[in-house]
Amino acid sequence: NAQPVTVTVTGAAGQIGYGILFRIASGQMLGHDTQIRLRLLEIPQAVRAAEGTAMELDDCAFDRLESIEIFDDPVKAFDGVNVALLVGARPRGAGMERADLLAANGGIFGPQGEAINAGAASDVRVLVVGNPANTNALIAAQHAPDVPVERFNAMTRLDHNRALSQLARRGGVPVRDVRNVTIWGNHSASQYPDVFHARVGSRSGAELAEDRTWLTEDFIPTVAKRGAAIIEARGASSAASAANAAIEHVRDWVRGTPEGEWTSAGVPSNGAYGVPEGVISSFPVVSRDGEWQIVDGLEINDFSRERIDASVAELFEERAAVEKLGLV
Ligand code: NAI
Repeated sequence: NAQPVTVTVTGAAGQIGYGILFRIASGQMLGHDTQIRLRLLEIPQAVRAAEGTAMELDDCAFDRLESIEIFDDPVKAFDGVNVALLVGARPRGAGMERADLLAANGGIFGPQGEAINAGAASDVRVLVVGNPANTNALIAAQHAPDVPVERFNAMTRLDHNRALSQLARRGGVPVRDVRNVTIWGNHSASQYPDVFHARVGSRSGAELAEDRTWLTEDFIPTVAKRGAAIIEARGASSAASAANAAIEHVRDWVRGTPEGEWTSAGVPSNGAYGVPEGVISSFPVVSRDGEWQIVDGLEINDFSRERIDASVAELFEERAAVEKLGLV
């Protein structure tokens, strides 16, 4: 790859930032043949901390890392960006109402979308990690009318990977022998991890799902509530695994998914599987020639239908709330 790639990471001084920057710079996201220009975006109070992380990046002497720049201005940080990882977000404070949370994040993702619209490279790809990821991605996309909406994704890859691991354990097989799990809907507790089309070693996910008690009382809640379980155990939220998921999402988006396998990503709905247009929802996807395609033709049983619909309904509720605030 002759052209260096400009990668902007927001929230760069945060936990996920600390997990992801070194992996990007070492070539794990875009390949070892690609030179990286890293841009770190932070709020002014955290610029000093980002400078510390940049010192450590220097000290790795990564030979693929061409430059590191630090900004507190999104317009500058996104100028010429090829890959934007929107990690920094406003966490829900104690006693904060959902509308306040959505409004605070609108104040971040609206201007970032505008800055991407104004200055990004024509091939820009945007992955929103900061929560509420799907709705933040929708807000950013709506503020970037000149960028194809398909270039805005929300991350559900961590949920997908959690589901792969849980299934491997259940089936007693290595995780590499599990494939074609799907996360549907919102990256929230309402998400639906679907095993019905999965392969788990020599068995089918549908066969494992015959044990409905396991499915509804163990597997689904374990995947959907894994973030809370990690906070409870670690005293801090999942950061290394979130960084890993973001690396894998972008890698597969740019370089393609393996033949015969799909992954999960929050992409703009297009009516597929009865999910109306207008939200960024998680679907089974493959990537070909740098673009996601929603896997078609999967049979959706009643069990799945009900759960997909519930999570999608939540996405439309979030959409209605931000519409009311004038954010989309
Ligand atoms: P953190 O609190 O350690 O770091 C967030 C960083 O973002 C802070 O350094 C903060 O200064 C910065 N920031 C806040 N507003 C900003 C702005 N307007 N521009 C640039 N930077 C800004 O949080 P952590 O653990 O790194 O998580 C980041 C986000 O990722 C959270 O919203 C979290 O909920 C979300 N997350 C999403 C996951 C997913 O699967 N989609 C998984 C795990 C976390």
